[in-house]
Amino acid sequence: MPPLKQHAQTLWTPASWRDKPAVQMPDYDYISTLAEVEERLAASLPLVFAGEIRALRRQLGEVAAGRAFLLQGGDCAESFADFSERAITDTFRVLLQMAVVLTFAAACPVVKVGRMAGQFAKPRSALTETRAGVTLPSYRGDIVNDLDFTPAARRPDPRRQLRAYAQSAATLNLLRALAQGGFADLHRVQQWNLDFVRASPQGARYRDLSSRISETLAFIRACGLDAVTDPQLRQVQFYTSHEALLLGYEQALTRRDPATGEWYDGSAHFLWIGERTRQLDGAHVEFMRGIANPIGLKLGPTVDPDTLLRLLDALNPDNQPGRLTLISRLGAANIETSLPPLIRAVQRENRQVIWSCDPMHGNTLETSTGFKTRPFYRILDEVGRFFAIHQGEGSIPGGIHIELTGQDVTECLGGAQAITEQGLADRYHTQCDPRLNASQSLELAFLIAETLKDYRKTTQDEAITPGQDHSP
Ligand code: PEP
Ligand code: CO
Repeated sequence: MPPLKQHAQTLWTPASWRDKPAVQMPDYDYISTLAEVEERLAASLPLVFAGEIRALRRQLGEVAAGRAFLLQGGDCAESFADFSERAITDTFRVLLQMAVVLTFAAACPVVKVGRMAGQFAKPRSALTETRAGVTLPSYRGDIVNDLDFTPAARRPDPRRQLRAYAQSAATLNLLRALAQGGFADLHRVQQWNLDFVRASPQGARYRDLSSRISETLAFIRACGLDAVTDPQLRQVQFYTSHEALLLGYEQALTRRDPATGEWYDGSAHFLWIGERTRQLDGAHVEFMRGIANPIGLKLGPTVDPDTLLRLLDALNPDNQPGRLTLISRLGAANIETSLPPLIRAVQRENRQVIWSCDPMHGNTLETSTGFKTRPFYRILDEVGRFFAIHQGEGSIPGGIHIELTGQDVTECLGGAQAITEQGLADRYHTQCDPRLNASQSLELAFLIAETLKDYRKTTQDEAITPGQDHSP
């Protein structure tokens, strides 16, 4: 085995990834256009700023310590066509609802991170797609090519990066307004319920919870404490994230912070390395090790504990809490065998990580009618096992990573609405992977809240040693 921390000894620059093998990146025909696009991006403003990124890092430090929970969610792939104020607002609203359910029911602060404002590039299992005897390059996300099945649409076009940048900036502008401009005010908690969810069991449950919150707020006001709590109640901190796949784009938005000398990728607060691009000596690990943003690493069932430890050496050599989130996406069928060895290796070596559960990507299947879908019961199953395994191993289940939308889609099977195989065809709109709709997302949040509440109660009880006085 080569010596550990080998990466830390080699020189990193925002461009050093270019000397490493890069998988899942498009082959552009127009090299000079690509260079022009990257120059233009490099001369553009970053979308997020060092101070905000550091604030997220501090909050993720709280998650690593078990004092907060990470909620990360949004589209599998954002799209140019399906871009509207309504769609963004609805997804933001569902994330807010989920966060409020988790915060209130489990009495736990929630760090909110959207898969939004930049989640455009997609890794694919196959280089090409064949339909009726015609073979074309795979769709790789709107930042690379177009979903239409024609040769022109599927040709990677570097200029799409400028459109993705512009759409991300506009999305972020709206998200900032929603988070800070009154919409996210907790006094409006009852109004976040979406129309089509209102009539469902989840909607009713949410109504109960939100009226209890409203009563609590009225009580706080009556006690004269609202001046103290007001700023926190009227705004939320909301962060953005996406998979750092298209490294030329990420490099172009990476800047050195004059105050600290650190390099920040200004395309999003949080970036992650996908399951298909986590090669130890590959370009993606090389780029990500040098940026100071908090980062994620997806872990599928093929990762072994030694490889994981070598990745941790490369990506978090100083073992900083909050720097690295391990996002396991093992599948309900594999999590029992795959997760415990990984947790034990991390514990044995005393590594600081956040464990987050992506219950989506290991539970995808295709129906006989040709729809890529995910059964809701399997998603719940993986989440339940994730909590139980961590509790058994004495480690912290720190977060959840999901694909969802605020729209009333029919992409995942089951849930309280009981979406059937036939029902999938009704409103199947995703550009890429099947997402939970708003009521399924809320249903999941209530279930996680219960589990989290039990988990926190048990671990807090265990932390109380007999004979100590724990009165307030
Ligand atoms: C994704 O998050 O959309 C994705 C492609 O995930 P993974 O890398 O885990 O397959
Ligand atoms: Co996906």
